[in-house]
Amino acid sequence: MHSRSTRGARRALLGSALSVVTACVGSDLPTLTSSCDADPTQARCQTPPAAPTLRELAAVRFRYVGTALDAAFFGASATQYDTLVAHEFNMVVAGNVMKWGSIHRDGRFDYRWTNPDAMVAFAQANGMKIRGHTLAWHQQNPAWLTSGTWSRDTLEALLKEHIDSVVGHYRGKIHAWDVVNEAINDGSGTLRTAGSPWAPTLGRDYIDIAFTRARAADPAALLFYNDYGLESPGVKQDAAFELVSGMKARGVPIDGIGFQAHFQVKQDGSDVPSQQTLVNTLTRFAALGLKVELTELDIRVRTPGATAAELAAQAQGYADVVSACLAVPACDAIVVWGVNDGESWVNTAFPGYGQALLFDDGFGKKATYDAVKRALGG
Ligand code: XIL
Repeated sequence: MHSRSTRGARRALLGSALSVVTACVGSDLPTLTSSCDADPTQARCQTPPAAPTLRELAAVRFRYVGTALDAAFFGASATQYDTLVAHEFNMVVAGNVMKWGSIHRDGRFDYRWTNPDAMVAFAQANGMKIRGHTLAWHQQNPAWLTSGTWSRDTLEALLKEHIDSVVGHYRGKIHAWDVVNEAINDGSGTLRTAGSPWAPTLGRDYIDIAFTRARAADPAALLFYNDYGLESPGVKQDAAFELVSGMKARGVPIDGIGFQAHFQVKQDGSDVPSQQTLVNTLTRFAALGLKVELTELDIRVRTPGATAAELAAQAQGYADVVSACLAVPACDAIVVWGVNDGESWVNTAFPGYGQALLFDDGFGKKATYDAVKRALGG
């Protein structure tokens, strides 16, 4: 493992290293010409304007454009990856390292701060906002939690302890927490209990408990409910609407709703919702006084063998998501779930699909990148 202090120092330098430098160009000109140091105003000494990055374009529109960081960020040879991330994005989210199963893996009173702390330091050194993900979910929980038999009181105490510790540890540093993730069943829209350490014992109360506790632990962080499959109208979207409007009505502190936006170019029934559908959805939830964010955007295509038409539909899908967010004032962030195709969770979660992100594995910009950039006005 690479030394953390070396990497931390290097990362802290990235921010300044990325600032635009005025360089002297045209060194093949006659030697009698005065040097650029002596007279930097000469035409040959001017740097052509750099192409705007996604974060620059988003900032002009008062939006954040973010990415999930996972193993590639923590790898020993992550320099190129980190540089790209700091250059293009002004928001990051932990792909895994803030989940219970990582940060609270080893036991009730044992937290693992090293990797999430490194991520937070990187974001701060590079002027990026941070989304925290996630405080209560039915997946990626530690064995000590899922295999235990807990009374209602003890379980509630465990949830509160975790939130006090984790949210408190990062108090003042987090833009938004995904407090509760994926609490609603597909299809029926009922409370998800399968696999959940929380819902079978605490019922819906665990959601209110988690939000209330998170507000107390960091009053400055925005508190989000986050889920997938809410982007188009239907039973699940209605269930989420009922959930968050009920919370608002009860005075439970919720500030926003995250639409994961894991999409697929149509092959077996899934599809990218149209721009108008997305605008309608975001507007429906914004009307409750909530912020709305696209929190885990990716658009997968068949692989290998995606056709040119499928790749064009994918790029158009990215453009539509960005345009929809720009059309709704309450939509302040678009976060893609990973940087380059090879690191995407899609490759294992959806066999036969991939190529879901903005960069290829050589960090080349894809048509999807160009589509996002154009939609942001670049
Ligand atoms: C994924 C990670 O990207 C994978 O590395 C991990 O193996 C599984 O979880 N919805 C979420 C994210 O809220 O936390 C998931 O992240 C993707 C689906």
